Amino acid sequence: MIKPHGADELKPLFVYDTDQHHALIQEAETLPSLLLNSAAAANAVMLGAGYFTPLPGYMNLADALSVAEKLHTTDGLFWPIPIVNLTKDSSVQAGNRIALRDPNVEGNPVLAIMDIESVEQVSDEQIRFMAEHIFGTLDEKHPGVAVFTSLGNTLLSGPIQVLNFSYFQTDFPDTFRTAVEIRNEIIERGWKKVVAFQTRNPMHRAHEELCRMAQERLGADGIIIHMLLGKLKAGDIPAPVRDACIRKMAELYFPPNTVMITGYGFDMMYAGPREAVLHAIFRQNMGATHFIVGRDHAGVGDYYGPFDAQTIFDEKVPAGALQIELFRADNTAYSKKLNKVVMMREAPDHTPDDFITLSGTKVRQMLGQGIAPPPEFSRPEVAQILMDYYRSIGG
Ligand code: ADX
Repeated sequence: MIKPHGADELKPLFVYDTDQHHALIQEAETLPSLLLNSAAAANAVMLGAGYFTPLPGYMNLADALSVAEKLHTTDGLFWPIPIVNLTKDSSVQAGNRIALRDPNVEGNPVLAIMDIESVEQVSDEQIRFMAEHIFGTLDEKHPGVAVFTSLGNTLLSGPIQVLNFSYFQTDFPDTFRTAVEIRNEIIERGWKKVVAFQTRNPMHRAHEELCRMAQERLGADGIIIHMLLGKLKAGDIPAPVRDACIRKMAELYFPPNTVMITGYGFDMMYAGPREAVLHAIFRQNMGATHFIVGRDHAGVGDYYGPFDAQTIFDEKVPAGALQIELFRADNTAYSKKLNKVVMMREAPDHTPDDFITLSGTKVRQMLGQGIAPPPEFSRPEVAQILMDYYRSIGG
């Protein structure tokens, strides 16, 4: 099976030993505590679930700056986005063991215990330096920049022991999986060649066909649809609705036992190319051999070129740094001439009018008005779930 990133074995930071787990929960009640922001909590969930193998915890400032600028830690580990615990709380002292409290669950239960190796002040200039490298822009209108630059200027680093998976396990019991669980399921199913598909959307026909094309062309044993379950920008479709759409689509349009429907607990950063590389790392960690990257992967607005998230793998990922392979998809849409979804570069005789393309805004408008997009764009059963959702929020 494909090895995890930078390690021979997966390194989930969740405490699986039940006695130790119990003791840590008791200890946590005696420790000083810190209320995390959602970004740091999401990092803890990903570390706990093994997706961020081989990191032992939150990065220190030297590593965070080095990762932002050079995509490597100071020790030379390839990594594309700083995994940090930035806070506005200045009360934490180095040398302490503290309880990290969950901002996303009522009552703020303890999510993890952290050994504070260092407490460092980060200047506004250093925050901007990191943001500009991660997001390629400092525009405060970029939702990822807005979040990252407002997390705080105190950086806490050190190892963590994770005690639960926040709201993901309770709210998405059928969909949330750790990297450990996905690796185990791949083994149980006997899959060897496994394609992972990242998504933060209900899957329309283009998404569906991308998965099908990747599976057929690679001769893969199965597809893992791996959806983001964490926080999104306003206006994006909530995870339970997307989950229902994806399940319906897979149930009706894919042969049984060829698709695993799963999700992970992380907030969307909208960091385009850098996030695509992070995506590839954690799909390798969950045991996928191939990863689909299409048009404007993890993008937002027009901050990134449509294929920047593919070219970064040629320009910034050193040979051999990752074992997972990309399946690069061109812009995909339904061809009226060929009566099927195709990659545009494979239909060179087509003009733009030969394709059925709808902007996200147009699709939202239609669904909000109770109008189903054409079946060439969206499966009718998926459109129905979305129309019901838009009706429930008043259009
Ligand atoms: S993302 O932010 O998670 O990337 P989305 O769920 O829309 O957004 O996309 C999931 C994957 O499908 C990404 O790899 C994206 O590049 C790809 N994709 C979505 N729509 C298309 C399309 N029409 N053509 C090519 N690739 C696409």
